[in-house]
Amino acid sequence: MMGTRQQPIFAPGPAAPGYDFDALIREDKVHRLLYTDPNIFALELTRIFGGTWVYLAHESQVPEPNDFFRTRLGLRPIIVVRDRNGVVRALYNRCTHRGATICRQARGSAKAFQCPYHGWTYHNTGELAGVPWPEGYPSDHHANGEFNLVQVPRVESYRGFIFGTLNPDAPALVDHLGPARRPVDEWLDRNPGGKVVMREANRMKFRGNWKLAYDNSGDGYHVVFSHRSLLMMENRFSDDDGKGMAYYKQQPDAGPIKIHYLGNGHHFKDKRFTLDQRPGALWEIEGVHPGMEGYEAALRAEHGDDADRLLDLAASVPMNINIFPNLLILGNHIQVLEPLSVDETATTWYGTAVVDETGELNGAADAINALRMRTQEQFPLFGEVDDLTNFEEIQAGLAAEEDEWVYMDRGFGLPERFSEADGVISGPATDEVFMREYMKAYKALMTAAPELAPTREVRR
Ligand code: FES
Ligand SMILES: [Fe+2]
Repeated sequence: MMGTRQQPIFAPGPAAPGYDFDALIREDKVHRLLYTDPNIFALELTRIFGGTWVYLAHESQVPEPNDFFRTRLGLRPIIVVRDRNGVVRALYNRCTHRGATICRQARGSAKAFQCPYHGWTYHNTGELAGVPWPEGYPSDHHANGEFNLVQVPRVESYRGFIFGTLNPDAPALVDHLGPARRPVDEWLDRNPGGKVVMREANRMKFRGNWKLAYDNSGDGYHVVFSHRSLLMMENRFSDDDGKGMAYYKQQPDAGPIKIHYLGNGHHFKDKRFTLDQRPGALWEIEGVHPGMEGYEAALRAEHGDDADRLLDLAASVPMNINIFPNLLILGNHIQVLEPLSVDETATTWYGTAVVDETGELNGAADAINALRMRTQEQFPLFGEVDDLTNFEEIQAGLAAEEDEWVYMDRGFGLPERFSEADGVISGPATDEVFMREYMKAYKALMTAAPELAPTREVRR
């Protein structure tokens, strides 16, 4: 806590555009303006990307004191840093002098950040350390904390995933995640030590609204149509029809794959029920990619019966866990959505690796991670392009002003297709129930008008 002259930070948000969100978001459809209107986008930057918990980074990206990782909270440039005392912070990457970004490297280690423009320097706690030639200012000018970096007042982690919010009234992160914690736990617990580390990424952008990607993240209806070429490729490499995404063929409505709506906008498409419960079953449904055979043969030669267990760790686990608004955990990846404008979005697919701190992989970690790299190349390179094309073509289609509605009514009016227990709604993976439900959470956030409280105080 610095001095007493500190003013609260003015964080007004844009003027509400005057739209009636009850009229724009109906039970079975939403208005095209949600995807095309710059005023609604501007409001999302405070009420969604500010008003609720937003994924920022993973702890493995800032493992040591002084490590930093650059990201965004909405459009705000952010440095996630583990400060010199080990406290994880989310600093605004914005010089308090004239506004330049102070950190221009994607990640690294730094005890301090010096603005490249006029050399103002900040400790990695966000506190102003000094300005060049201070005699040009009254002597107490910089002493009271007014020129510290702004920072996100609440930064919390759940099992390595770091989130931030500007909303002092948001619930604790664990409560916000609620039932979504369980699939996240299961996704992590299959790995040694119950954890993974983030590696490098496939980085893409599309000319479309960010919600198009979130709408698609639980969509089991599009797979056989949009990803036909990928399904054909999987089948060409294999006689076995059960590999990869093949389980979407035939009658997916009646299949065992379920979508679960978990509250607060989060949902989970669970495809694990197609799996036998035995070591090697997951590896058997993994698509075959050139270059994998040698690693598999070496693992089998060296590890014998244990190779099935090890190979399962290289295979993509058939889970899609979608944490509103921007964290999609799928296969062995995490995908992060970053809105850039009403009709442009960055989507980054981070690969993950296993770490073997206790020796339970018997020296196989590097081979498993080499295989994971191959299995994690497939979907971003051969599947995501299909999805991004759809998003761009939807954005183009939504330019037609007079055709106003986007329907998400598959399964609507058919309650027998759903079950509900402990606040979780479950239904066929081809139904759009998860969209209807997340749009309710979205509407609640967009109409809540929280008082955001970014701070210059160096707390903790
Ligand atoms: S803008 Fe950073 S020192 Fe001037
Ligand atoms: Fe897709």
